[in-house]
Amino acid sequence: MLLSGRGSNLQSILSASQSGALGGDIALVISNRPDSGGLDIARDAGIEIALIDHQAYATREAFDASLAGALENQSLDLIVLAGFMRILTPAFVSRFSGRLINIHPSLLPLYPGLNTHQRALDAGDTHAGATVHYVTRELDGGPSVLQAKVVVQPDDDADSLAARVLQVEHQIYPQAIAWHLSERLQFTAGTLYLDGVALPPTGQRWESV
Ligand code: GRF
Repeated sequence: MLLSGRGSNLQSILSASQSGALGGDIALVISNRPDSGGLDIARDAGIEIALIDHQAYATREAFDASLAGALENQSLDLIVLAGFMRILTPAFVSRFSGRLINIHPSLLPLYPGLNTHQRALDAGDTHAGATVHYVTRELDGGPSVLQAKVVVQPDDDADSLAARVLQVEHQIYPQAIAWHLSERLQFTAGTLYLDGVALPPTGQRWESV
């Protein structure tokens, strides 16, 4: 798992792992920031951790090569991005294609990038949410696996909306990972399959939570 921050998604995935719902274990947690709360959560749970500080690398390519080296040392079924605030190079994405998954706090294709909650509020959206998607070279552009919606309340600000969206993130991310680990879900040669059936490129699975 790759992260940069507090690690609440790590915590939800860890809980699913411990209960058996995930169908797998977290082998390694890597952060690019020394102050990540996620590193503490992982350490306390006895998970191997690594700090690969991007500031120690002159280029994005050099940082990604170091990251790839750490990941290749393990036999990993899936690389989970959970609040990992770095854009990955095309070379990295190609190398791990089909084994890279991300969660984004918006109803993609709406609001790729940052400040998703404020952008949803500014647009007057009635709903916000989160999307789990496989990672492709396009930022937050890979095929959606699962989305969850929440209703925007009249008195919401970006923080209150983010907190409610985070609650549904914690439900859909372990679910999507479990589907991948049980091979119900596969992303091969640019096509997403669920239970062996190809989903249309624009197709999205909606799960109301
Ligand atoms: C989540 O909102 C996730 O969608 C986004 O970054 C945040 C990470 O939160 N990519 P946490 O570190 O898992 O608590």
